[in-house]
Amino acid sequence: MTQHKVIYDTDPGVDDAMALVFQALHPDIELLGITSVYGNATIDTTTSNALYLRSRFCPGVPVARGAAAPLHRAPPAPLGWIHGDNGLGNIELGEPGDTSLDARPAHQFIVDTIRAQPGEVTLIAVGPLTNLALALEADPEIATLVKQVVIMGGAFGTAGVLGNVSPAAEANIMCDPDAADIVLGAAWPVTMVGLDVTQETIMPNEWLKDFGGHGDAGRFVWDVSRHYARFHKDSAGLEGIYVHDSSAVAYVLAPHLYTVRKGPVRVVTSGIATGETIQKPVTMKAPAPDWDDRPAQAVCVGVDAAGMLDLYKNTFFKAL
Ligand code: RIB
Ligand code: CA
Repeated sequence: MTQHKVIYDTDPGVDDAMALVFQALHPDIELLGITSVYGNATIDTTTSNALYLRSRFCPGVPVARGAAAPLHRAPPAPLGWIHGDNGLGNIELGEPGDTSLDARPAHQFIVDTIRAQPGEVTLIAVGPLTNLALALEADPEIATLVKQVVIMGGAFGTAGVLGNVSPAAEANIMCDPDAADIVLGAAWPVTMVGLDVTQETIMPNEWLKDFGGHGDAGRFVWDVSRHYARFHKDSAGLEGIYVHDSSAVAYVLAPHLYTVRKGPVRVVTSGIATGETIQKPVTMKAPAPDWDDRPAQAVCVGVDAAGMLDLYKNTFFKAL
């Protein structure tokens, strides 16, 4: 029986795409839907990429178009130098295939799907959290009906990890800090898979090269990651790529690979530290009113990175 029924909220995006293929290939995941959001590229591009990826790797899965901008701020400029002008590493995409969209906006698709299967649905969100905040605004009760929410986002200073779009902020949170603070304050079980663990998990180029000989999905992973790898070489001197979005999927599939710390989380929404995520660990007894009336969420502070890479590679090599 499928273990995880997933709605994937995403801004594809190279690492988003690699994480979608990971889910499409893994037997323990049933994709209930893909919801697009702005972020790595405009909503038009991320939605078009979601449709392309659905056709190529998981035909028949519904795609619902999401928010074009944050709740109260202007949308970010597309990140062409990171994800390519087309959002997928500037690879040739060919014919779009099935371009059918669900009639509902992403947040309504999320509400309806959770209500249709109470207690069953896992939300994996790997872009700005605007769609999730809109879903909570439309139907706050979904917080009690979802199985779990796993977010790629945040940076909590473990081992000195900073933000990646400012010293304080990780990109997904920075795009819509207001939405992030709403999502983290809701009474649903959230696990944050942030830079503390995603920057500890690196796919070396030599390791990725092996995928090229493993079917269409493997070849796609190699091709789509090349532009992204050049960004990592130029910006961080890496001979490989940080594993951001696939780490959120790995947490759902194998939570034992991660060490989590519990406690309420706040997001800074103004000033120079906008987008910073700050957790008050449950072990901290000092009163902190801005945290104390919010639910404790889980933040990943450690990872078995080799175990995560093995999980990703075995998923592809067994399936192909
Ligand atoms: O900070 C990394 C995150 O921002 C990833 O989800 C990447 O796809 C971008 O959305
Ligand atoms: Ca993403």
